Amino acid sequence: MKLPPLSNRLLACCGFVRPGDRVADVGCDHGYLGIHLLLTGAARSVLASDVNEQPLRCALRNARTYGVENKMTFCLSDGVRNIPRDFDTLVCAGMGADTMISILDAAPWLKSGDYRLILQCQSKRPELRRYLYDRGYAIRRETLAQDGKFLYPVMEVTFDPGHSLTPAQAYLSPALLESGSPLLPAFLDRVIGGLEKTVQGRSRAGGVDWEETRKILEDLKQIRVELGGCQ
Ligand SMILES: C[S@@+](CC[C@H](N)C(=O)[O-])C[C@H]1O[C@@H](n2cnc3c(N)ncnc32)[C@H](O)[C@@H]1O
Repeated sequence: MKLPPLSNRLLACCGFVRPGDRVADVGCDHGYLGIHLLLTGAARSVLASDVNEQPLRCALRNARTYGVENKMTFCLSDGVRNIPRDFDTLVCAGMGADTMISILDAAPWLKSGDYRLILQCQSKRPELRRYLYDRGYAIRRETLAQDGKFLYPVMEVTFDPGHSLTPAQAYLSPALLESGSPLLPAFLDRVIGGLEKTVQGRSRAGGVDWEETRKILEDLKQIRVELGGCQ
């Protein structure tokens, strides 16, 4: 069986899909994730949606090429505004935190308890994690995928109010720490490196939340020491 070319990032998203899930891939672009899920039998059905017509046409063309167009539905939609709600798992991959947050904000019905979210966010991940916990979501599982020199966290999220994150956990969730991913030390090194630059910039500029950032950095460095391995 010929499968579509899928990055490790998207394969990690597929890894969180449960057998028999009805999946909604929001921001599907080429549609490869859904095609892969159908060809491998991981998903029962796939709704591929995108805010732009051109990617949706591309997804349909690819679905035809791989012979799964009859098992897929296609929907032009900004986020989940116009999509049918009869799915189990929402996948949202390859978007920044601002877009994901606006998609989730417009869909409080995702909090019914019927849905699981698989999120792979490209930017401002601490903001997304904070947003999720502030709105009653919790990260059940989180893992890392590597494509080339890039490391991508992928999270499985459910609505489960009453949990919170410390400031440092917004950068490294308990679920990601518990994942045991071999990529964790390298990921944490990058997070720490990024924060160190921020702290240096802020201490020069006299930023008001410098102390909090410094404390986050201390906590993450402590975790890094406990993880061991190269630094
Ligand atoms: C960078 S691509 C990622 C495609 C694929 N999910 C992946 O991870 O490889 C982002 C896609 O999201 C779509 N998109 C951006 N904002 C969106 C929104 N508000 N609702 C639905 N799709 C959106 C874009 O048109 C584009 O096809």
